[in-house]
Amino acid sequence: MKKILVINGPNINLLGIREKDIYGKCDFASLCAYIKKEAAKLELKVEIVQSNHEGEIVDAIQKAYGVYDGIVINPAALTHYSIAVLDALKAVNIPAIEVHLSNIHAREEFRHKSVTASGCIGQICGLGFVGYALALKALAGYKAE
Ligand code: DQA
Repeated sequence: MKKILVINGPNINLLGIREKDIYGKCDFASLCAYIKKEAAKLELKVEIVQSNHEGEIVDAIQKAYGVYDGIVINPAALTHYSIAVLDALKAVNIPAIEVHLSNIHAREEFRHKSVTASGCIGQICGLGFVGYALALKALAGYKAE
């Protein structure tokens, strides 16, 4: 059974409260329940973490080394500036998929650039919760070349 770590960055814990027109009405607990349900269907073991602190996100990525077979990461705002998160993803070299609930390319200019995506095998954005399920599905079938 593959083990996948799902990492959520700053303010993802405020889903259901923050900018509902962009992120929807469902809260973080319902996102976690959805991820667990989808992981079970794919026969994946999943752990979910969320932190508002860059260093804790880096720690979570580092601790995944040798433990997890894949990472799904929504780095949230860190996406747009965190070279530390990028370096951590590259350092552990675990297949990672970046997910964004919103379509970052259809929003403010500063959200169009992801500095973390180049440390990932792919990026999914704009599909809400479904993006996490698609990322899990991709990792379930992923084999390194
Ligand atoms: C986000 C998009 C980011 O630009 C933003 O800072 C977030 C959430 C998303 O899931 O759409 O916090 O990562």
